[in-house]
Amino acid sequence: MLKYRRGPHRGRAALTQGEHHAMAVGTHETVAINHPTAKPTANIPCSIVIFGGAGALSHRKLLPALYNLALDGELPEHCPIVAFSMEELDDERYRAWARDGIEKFSRRAVDPALWEKLGQRIHFVRGRFTERADYDGLRARLEEVDRKYATGGNHIYYFAIPPSFIENCAAMLHEAGLIRPPDGDQHFTRVVIEKPIGYDLASAMAIDDRVSMHFDESQIFRIDHYLGKETVENLMVLRFANAIFEPLWTSRFVDHVQLTVAEDEGVGTRASYYEHAGALRDMVQSHILGVLSIIAMEPPRSTRARAVRDSKLDVLRSIRPFGDEDIEKFTVRGQYGAGLVAGAAAPAYRDEENVAPDSRTETFVAMRCWIDNWRWAGVPFYIRTGKRMPKRTSEIAIYFKSVPRILYNANPRAQLAPNMLTIRIQPDEGLSVHIISKVPGAQVRLQQVAVDFHYASTTPEAYETLLRDVILGDQTLFMRRDAVEASWSLVDPIIAAWAESPADPPLYAAGSWGPIEAALMMAADGRAWRAL
Ligand code: BG6
Repeated sequence: MLKYRRGPHRGRAALTQGEHHAMAVGTHETVAINHPTAKPTANIPCSIVIFGGAGALSHRKLLPALYNLALDGELPEHCPIVAFSMEELDDERYRAWARDGIEKFSRRAVDPALWEKLGQRIHFVRGRFTERADYDGLRARLEEVDRKYATGGNHIYYFAIPPSFIENCAAMLHEAGLIRPPDGDQHFTRVVIEKPIGYDLASAMAIDDRVSMHFDESQIFRIDHYLGKETVENLMVLRFANAIFEPLWTSRFVDHVQLTVAEDEGVGTRASYYEHAGALRDMVQSHILGVLSIIAMEPPRSTRARAVRDSKLDVLRSIRPFGDEDIEKFTVRGQYGAGLVAGAAAPAYRDEENVAPDSRTETFVAMRCWIDNWRWAGVPFYIRTGKRMPKRTSEIAIYFKSVPRILYNANPRAQLAPNMLTIRIQPDEGLSVHIISKVPGAQVRLQQVAVDFHYASTTPEAYETLLRDVILGDQTLFMRRDAVEASWSLVDPIIAAWAESPADPPLYAAGSWGPIEAALMMAADGRAWRAL
């Protein structure tokens, strides 16, 4: 059996004897690569302080992720968790609520003995994010907890709070003397900021300016959980640890790329946020451009955070800015109307709780991007994302150019399907290489077949990977300020053009693949969206 351990720098992965994590189905062998520099678990004592610790993100993602890290022995032994929030709770009641979240949302069942130990390390401090005096209460409690667990005063502040509180919390932490200047890997204060960073370029810059008055960039971890997904992380390994893909990964061989992030769920209970965000800010500005930059990046000069983030930034800066005509012709927005998703009736977006009856918020986006660099000149990248699609599925499809129209591809009425590499981000994580093969038999008949790779066991949740990296101090998978700004620069003109347009976003029925305009945009290029 093999155990997967991440090395000190991203991509320096090693497989060691131990446990089963990610193995291929349909392959004959799994090869262990022992990387000499693989670093063991970061057993660095620290307190993890969750601002908004009693919110949905903590319940559904953060607490289950911390539990799973503990289960894998990846949470430092001296690592208390302190929730700071406004609710009327105390340690005991918060622990019960935390356990409930773990029972409901953890990918693995609760081990009572482990919970007994972990639960005792969880504490609750009641406080308002905007009240300076409440930070004194937080400091007093942290001093107590730091002594008890011998954390050496190392703190990770996780801001699981609306963006409007970020600047304030950073300033108050500073005033309360709770931020230490950067001092190596052993003595640290770090802050984790959830997306979206701001509302547009100007507001993102304002937030970053204010936060950087108190934290150095090396202390700031801007989280985009898509970048922590196993399959997204594997993209770099796929590209740069295999000889067969990279030579083909250029405009010479690639016809176009499709990136789909589809959700079957609607807006749910998050309308108060989503009404002001919409799919472009919520998904494209962060997750989708982040994944796109890994698909298209040049090989970084090393697997260190700086080199990887430089290469990704180059992609964002090479995406051709959207002019008015591009926005008109090659961006599509949509909003879901009533429909059926997996056989169940789903309401229209405008009928959802807390949504304005005349809302113009888009729940679907499709667009075509060009990356104006040597590698990708002339290769369109099509992206689409939406809520209330027929199913939850995220996939990257690299379409290769067709073989010449000779030999097996000579018949103009029966052209061969192009080769394709599809990478399933979720669910059913894995990848497939689609090739043409002969149907067995006396006649020569051709068919498209897929060579498939599936992960055989559950992969870690993105938040597990990312929280572990914050403890380790590895910023590779986190968004750097310049990348966030480059993304906003790309989407801001689209946001402005849509806001100015007198037209409402076209409707699509819940349970469909978006408005007809998305299909027409592809058809105008002589292509079609992949049927998923
Ligand atoms: C979040 C968005 O960042 O990502 C949500 O705010 C979206 O609107 C979610 O539903 C999707 O994440 P995942 O991991 O479920 O695909």
